[in-house]
This record gives sequence, C-alpha cells and structure tokens, in this order.
Amino acid sequence: MPLDSLPPGFADILGPSGLLTGADMDAYLADWRGLYRGQAMAVLRPGSTEEVAACVKLCAAQGIRIYPQGGNTSMVGGATPQDAPRQVVLSLARMNRVLDVDVADMTMTVEAGLVLATAQGVAAEHGALFPLSLGAEGTAMIGGLLSTNAGGNTTVRYGNARELMLGLEVVLPDGSVIEGLRRLRKDNTGYALRHLFVGAEGTLGIITKAVLRLFPAARETATALCACPDEDSALALFRRFRAADEGAVRAFEYMSGTGMGLVLRHIEGVALPLAEEAAHYALVDLSASREGAGLRGLLESVLEAALEAGEVTDAALAESEAQRQAIWKLREEHPEAQKRAGASVKSDVSVPVSAVPALIREASAACRALIPGARPVPFGHMGDGNIHMNLQQPEGMAADEFLARSHDIMDAVNAVVRRLGGSFSAEHGVGRLKTGMLEEWRGGAEYAAMRAIKAALDPRGIMNPGVVFPATP
Ligand code: FAD
Ligand code: MLT
Ligand code: ZN
Repeated sequence: MPLDSLPPGFADILGPSGLLTGADMDAYLADWRGLYRGQAMAVLRPGSTEEVAACVKLCAAQGIRIYPQGGNTSMVGGATPQDAPRQVVLSLARMNRVLDVDVADMTMTVEAGLVLATAQGVAAEHGALFPLSLGAEGTAMIGGLLSTNAGGNTTVRYGNARELMLGLEVVLPDGSVIEGLRRLRKDNTGYALRHLFVGAEGTLGIITKAVLRLFPAARETATALCACPDEDSALALFRRFRAADEGAVRAFEYMSGTGMGLVLRHIEGVALPLAEEAAHYALVDLSASREGAGLRGLLESVLEAALEAGEVTDAALAESEAQRQAIWKLREEHPEAQKRAGASVKSDVSVPVSAVPALIREASAACRALIPGARPVPFGHMGDGNIHMNLQQPEGMAADEFLARSHDIMDAVNAVVRRLGGSFSAEHGVGRLKTGMLEEWRGGAEYAAMRAIKAALDPRGIMNPGVVFPATP
C-alpha cells in the first residue's frame, strides 16, 4: 500500500537524531521471528516524556497510527507495524536512563527504554537484585516487558513483571500524561490504572517511566541440571524442592531431549555436563540472600532422595559461577537453537502445575498426529505451569509448507490446553498473532469489557491497531 509522507511538525519536536526514515527503519519494521513485516512513514525516537506526548498529540490530530516499540523481541508480532499508509513506529530506545535507585525503599525508577540486562546490572552495583530474567534480557526493554507482563525464569519466586512494578508514567492516546510514578507498597486510591497498562501490549498508551521493585541480592546459589526418566518425574522433583524449602527455589525449568539436542547441535560453546543425553531434563536453581543458607546441602539431599526414588537418573551440580552459567546457557539458547534448526511454531500456554505432564504428553501426541515427522520441543517454566509447546518442522519438509499449518498446530495444542483448564498465552501475549484466539477464549462479557476499555482510552484507535484486537480498516 503506498505510504503517505510524514507531515511537518515531527522533525521540529524530535530534532535530527530523533527521526529515522528509509533504509534506517529496516530493523524496526520486522519481528524477531520473521513472521511479519510492515511499513512506516518514520520511526520516531523521542528522548523525553514531553517529546513522546507532543508526538502522540500530533499523531492524534493527524489520524496517524502509532506502533510503540521497545527491544522488538515480541514473539507474537506485537511491535511490528502493518501495511497501512499513515503510521509510525515510536521507539523508546533513546529513553534509557536510570533516574533513581533507592536501596532504603528498595526501588529503582527508570525510563521505559532501559534494557533489562542494564537494569539488572545497575541494581547489582547497588548491592540489590532486579529479579526479572529471560533469554531476551540483553535486548528487551522495561517498557516492553511491562507492556507484555513478561514472565521468564524467575516468576516461580518473584512473580511476573506486574508484581515487580509499583508505579508508572504513561502517555495516553490523546497525548495527556498519567503521572503515576509513585513508589508505594500500598495504594488503594480508585482504579489501579497502573495495572491496566501492564499487559496491554501498547494498545492503551505508551509507558514512558516505571518504578520497579528491588530485592536483596543473592549471596548464595546452588544449581543443578538433572536427567529425568519422564515428565512426571520432573514434576515430582519440583514438588520435592517446594516441600523442602519453597522460598529457596529461584527457578525450575523443564527441557525435553529433543530441545536439548537442538541446542547441542546448533549452538557453539555448549556441552552437556551429564554422562549421556536424556529424554527429559530439569534445571533447578536455588538462591538465598544470606550466606550460610545451606543451599548446597539442600540441593544434594533433595537430589539424593529423588535419585533413590528413580525420579532423577543423573545430575550435574554447578561447582562455580561459570558452570552455573554454562548450565543456564543450555536452557536460554533453546529459542535461538530452534530458530537455527529451521521453521518452528511456538506456543506459550499454561495449565495448572499438576497438569504439566499431561499437557506435554497429550499436546506432543496431537502435534505428531497432525504432522507426521514433526518434532515437539516442549520446554520452559514448569514451576509456573507454563510450557512452550513448540513444534519443529519435520526434517526434509519445506518451511513454507510447515508454517502454512501454523494455525492448525496451535489449535491442536490449544484443544489440549482447554481440556486441562489452561490459557493460550501465559507470557508472550496476544500481539498480532493471536487476536482470533482472544475473541474465541475470552468472548462474551470479558471481551466486551476489554473492548469498552480500549474504546474509552483510544477512541480513534490509533494506538497499536491490529494488536490484541483485530485490525479495522
Ligand atoms: P517489544 O517486542 O518491542 O514490544 C512488545 C509489546 O509491547 C508490543 O505490543 C509493543 O507495542 C509494546 N510496547 C513496547 N514498549 C512499550 C512501551 N514503552 N509502552 C507501551 N507499549 C510498549 N517473554 C517472556 O515473557 N518470558 C520469556 O522467558 C521470554 N523469553 C524470550 C526469549 C527470547 C530469545 C526472545 C526473543 C523473546 C522472549 N520473550 C519472553 C518475549 C519477549 O522478550 C517479551 O515479550 C518482552 O517483554 C518484550 O520486550 P521488548 O522490549 O522487546 O518489547
Ligand atoms: C523462553 O522461555 O525461552 C521463550 O519464552 C520461549 C520461546 O522461545 O518459545
Ligand atoms: Zn518463556
């Protein structure tokens, strides 16, 4: 579709460093998975809340659609523009300052474009911990993480991004600003609007700043990679740790033999620290904020009991931080290994934790029945009941032919998830990919209420159109 040219006014607000056009926009117009590509009159790169607000006002006046973008690591095409004539991408990347770290109140106030790994590092420099942790942490930004209510590896202990946020500053679709940068633990003054923008995927406004919660830094850790005979054993192992000391479990991740095989084949510099490859793996990571917490003893005693019960057949305990990182790399590289291994269809479903083994078995069987030779690659956050029921294309099948079945595959997985009382998205959100699912799963009063909120805050429909709700012309 032919693009309109950018009306005058934006350059005056943003200056030359704040605007990208032409080929400079390339990286902003496609998504990480390579599923979507769109177009934009320009990429706006404001450097302050005032500039964001002025740009949004101008867009509202001129009927220009806005695609807010952070690190552009969305798994569901949530930050990628469509193919329409009057739209811009608004990148928060230049708003990446840490405004305040307060270790007395254990808070950190940051701009939305701060990269997660930088936020973790700044917290560490102050002897504190910002616990959100996921594979995209070197690229994903605080605004994007809050807008998707990101989960990741430490949700089992610290909760999702929502639980890590105390206050927000947000530019609404008319350019007005909610100045909600409060750092209060308790605040019951009317509707908790801050929570409306968490998980809204940029459809209700643009998060420009946030007050984040900090925690005491970990002074002791103990980590192991375990081989398990089946999914039930991996879950039984999680229960053992939870029963022994729930507060010590920082992460409990499941991986299949197929996924681990892809990592070992496609990622450089990794090695399996076990005697032989297994069909199922569990990664357990314990941490405590005090030294002398006895985590190594806890790890050994629980694993010993699990070995005796046959729930674990082999285990590698990290003897150093380098070994701990090497174990984590085997888990974190799953998405990249899948990408390198060819086409895959992803899902980020959740079920009650007790139903995880049934989910893995039944969804894998459903996928194999649908596409003979396709390889289920289930992995993820077992302790949260959130498994990525991903499917890798059969060897020898054309990628396009496989991807043409994406919706059939997601439907097959979702049928199992629905039967087990789960959700079609536990962490990646709806984006552009799953708008149909939202209507199907959350129809009736729930969907109508969501629509009413969208219409009330964004009556012109300029904020991230086509995301969460289907695009209207
Ligand atoms: P973007 O991709 O830029 O945007 C995501 C959504 O938020 C879009 O809808 C966008 O419009 C909106 N948005 C962005 N910034 C703002 C803002 N300031 N205000 C309003 N709206 C905004 N996710 C998990 O939850 N858990 C995981 O374990 C996990 N692992 C991943 C591993 C890899 C290798 C990759 C590539 C992705 C992974 N993800 C995971 C998905 C992704 O990293 C998260 O969804 C993350 O929160 C997106 O952050 P971002 O800054 O890249 O946002
Ligand atoms: C992860 O947990 O690594 C991602 O959310 C999952 C994925 O790539 O499918
Ligand atoms: Zn995940």
